[in-house]
Amino acid sequence: MTKILTKYFDAEPKLHELETYRKLGGYEALKRALGMERSAVLEEVKKSNLRGLGGAGFPTGLKWSTVPPEDKVPGPRYVVVNADESEPGCFKDRILLTRAPHQLIEGLLIASYVIGSKDSFIFIRGEYQNQHDILGKAIAEAEQAGLIGNNILGSGFNCRILLMRGAGAYISGLDTALLETMEGKKAWPRQPPPFPTVSGLMGRPTVVNNVETLSMLPFIVNEGGAAFAKIGVPRSGGTIVFSISGHVEKPGLYEFPMGVKLRDALAACGGVKGGRKLKGVIPGGTSMPPLMEKDLDLALDFDSVRAAGTFLGAGGMIVLDETADAVEVAHNIERFLTHESCGQCTPCREGSNWSERILERLLEGKGQPQDVVNLARVGENITGKVICALGDTIGMVLKGYIDRYPDDFKKRVTPHG
Ligand SMILES: Cc1cc2nc3c(=O)[nH]c(=O)nc-3n(C[C@H](O)[C@H](O)[C@H](O)COP(=O)(O)O)c2cc1C
Repeated sequence: MTKILTKYFDAEPKLHELETYRKLGGYEALKRALGMERSAVLEEVKKSNLRGLGGAGFPTGLKWSTVPPEDKVPGPRYVVVNADESEPGCFKDRILLTRAPHQLIEGLLIASYVIGSKDSFIFIRGEYQNQHDILGKAIAEAEQAGLIGNNILGSGFNCRILLMRGAGAYISGLDTALLETMEGKKAWPRQPPPFPTVSGLMGRPTVVNNVETLSMLPFIVNEGGAAFAKIGVPRSGGTIVFSISGHVEKPGLYEFPMGVKLRDALAACGGVKGGRKLKGVIPGGTSMPPLMEKDLDLALDFDSVRAAGTFLGAGGMIVLDETADAVEVAHNIERFLTHESCGQCTPCREGSNWSERILERLLEGKGQPQDVVNLARVGENITGKVICALGDTIGMVLKGYIDRYPDDFKKRVTPHG
């Protein structure tokens, strides 16, 4: 199967070092991009059908196109790498940062050139100390080699890369909350519009992209947007790196072409553990409803998964076998979301707590007949009534599990509570 980002992971243990990365053709794409018109590089990114791999699946070329041109809005503009990876079930950015930091740095420099960013940032999850240090070393190596800084590769393009650490809040991964954090404020999501590409960091045009998204750029520049698009499906080009965990024989990192069948993805990781029956597959990280056995032949790409009633998210796939209990799983997820709710919007702040308490009651065997109905109603009163997608997911998760596994909920209810 075609691999882009993890192609050398098995054969090259020193891929994180500049010398090895360059031996394998690293930074050739940057050189090529710097020799092209910025608009021509943007055109390739649009042609590639690259979609954001941080969760939302927004087309990257389209996002970049909404940055106002410098003659209309003069002054600084920024590119920020979102390396805050905190979605339960996702660990692909951690491994991409550990194994291939230069792939990200090269992608970031290409994006910075297109956007015109002279100061670009990598915002990394506070707990990723090891990856922070690896990135720090890689940035220093690249600076030493004239790949970062002034007059990069003699092109006249200047760009610094600055590393910033988060402080352990899941909500900081949401782009506008991340920008607030970078400005030294509480991580409260902003209410768009304006979107960050118009008014982002310090009110300046800012592109926020995920680690995996930006790491795709060297391939797109080297091979061309059309070649990347061809690997995936019509509206989603290239590959996707799944973090696969849960009840499977071989959990780990798996890179597949966009649109891989769920059945084939499961087969690649050895199938359901112990040959047990499949109960469900959370496709993109815990904040979304699971896919079911009937979806085994579903193509895993943004649009197909959405049409099946859930999301591809950031590819944090969690497999649940027949021993999993839907009430326990939903409770675990809701407990996390309650803890991570930033408290800005009342429906999310209060509703997340209520849902957690009702689920707790069900787990303790003290469920009342109205509990399941109330649980769904609490969810309905959050989703769509809050600023950000964290709140939206609370209701989607509740409804997702209640609808798919009604018997698991029913058996927790006792007639008199
Ligand atoms: C609660 C929440 C947490 C998020 N956490 C992350 C994260 O850790 N990393 C990430 O890249 N995107 C995260 N996102 C998505 C970002 O808001 C944004 O869409 C993404 O960084 C854009 O990059 P992309 O277009 O390359 O995907 C999160 C979104 C939400 C709602």
